[in-house]
Amino acid sequence: MQKKIRVKFDELFKTEGSVFASPGRINLIGEHTDYNGGFVFPGAIDKGMIAEIKPNGTDRIRAFAIDLDDYAEFGLEEGDIPTAGWAKYIFGVCREIIKRGGKVAGFDTVFAGDVPLGAGMSSSAALESTYGFALNELFQLGIDQFELAKIGQATEHNYVGVNCGIMDQFASIFGKKGSLIRLDCRSLEYKYFPFNPEGYKLVLLDSVIKHELASSAYNKRRQSCENVVAVIQRTHPNVEFLRDVNMEMLKAVQSEVSEEDYMRAEYVVEEIQRVLDVSDALERGDYETVGQKMYETHYGMSKLYEVSCEELDFLNDIAKECGVTGSRVMGGGFGGCTINLVKAEKYDAFIEKAFSAYKEKFGREPKLYDVVISDGARRIK
Ligand code: GLA
Repeated sequence: MQKKIRVKFDELFKTEGSVFASPGRINLIGEHTDYNGGFVFPGAIDKGMIAEIKPNGTDRIRAFAIDLDDYAEFGLEEGDIPTAGWAKYIFGVCREIIKRGGKVAGFDTVFAGDVPLGAGMSSSAALESTYGFALNELFQLGIDQFELAKIGQATEHNYVGVNCGIMDQFASIFGKKGSLIRLDCRSLEYKYFPFNPEGYKLVLLDSVIKHELASSAYNKRRQSCENVVAVIQRTHPNVEFLRDVNMEMLKAVQSEVSEEDYMRAEYVVEEIQRVLDVSDALERGDYETVGQKMYETHYGMSKLYEVSCEELDFLNDIAKECGVTGSRVMGGGFGGCTINLVKAEKYDAFIEKAFSAYKEKFGREPKLYDVVISDGARRIK
């Protein structure tokens, strides 16, 4: 991939730049909790985005996306927003830096990635982190890592239209080889958990399904959570997020919120607790409990939060049938992957069964990714 980038960069710009990379992420547990001020448990993976970049002495950006075979050129003023979806990420990162007083000038760049798009592994956060990290170094802006993550998140909010939380960008910047990160999304306090479950494997099964309108459905889920918080605030003015709500408080407003909003909030309140339970279980090396919680998350995401789909439910059922320790839909949902914690001796039978049964039912095979927990954003050359 790096070689392809090098060849293209040289062909387009006749010079050599610096190379930066940022990873996608997995998340062990804690889904749709980040924008509710709750906890998440992500880790960076060994797949992501790589970009070669060099300031070009102008006020324009010239960018080429290898995987899409597409070129874009744009300026740095708010009105210069490019039309290509992928270029909006790069533009957004530049604009968010500029809004914070950072002096970004024009540059040339070529990038490529190996995080599968739309598989729930945060290819977009990987792209944002790559450019945030690179521009910070190349223009010596002195932005700290927390702010880099927020710049990526603000790019999603202001230039992509997804009101996401901070998990993906945080994991992509702060990732550490061999460790998961338990992150408190309100305070941004975090703790690394070395993750090496002896006798188990962590694998992703990609349903290869990507639902249209995923981003509007995502924003709608977030709105439901905020609706419930607004109602609870009438009697509990100190409540800031669903993080501050327990089941008793939620039940007390059941008749004042829509049935749908109630279900969404119920899932979130339970999920925030599950992350804490999993972190206790990990401290004890109790992977059976971790797995049990993963199944509970899947159930909640499917039946209460309604962000699963037939294909993902099917993969989850197969996991259960095959005695997989834990399995659930990962990321925002509406397609993408399941994350599976499997005992080594059950691995082969599970994968074989998942592939054959999925193919028989949906006419195509899922994809398999072994998870290697890796470092966050970095300079390669
Ligand atoms: C997407 C968002 C994250 C998070 C997850 C669900 O990946 O970008 O902020 O909300 O969905 O946990």
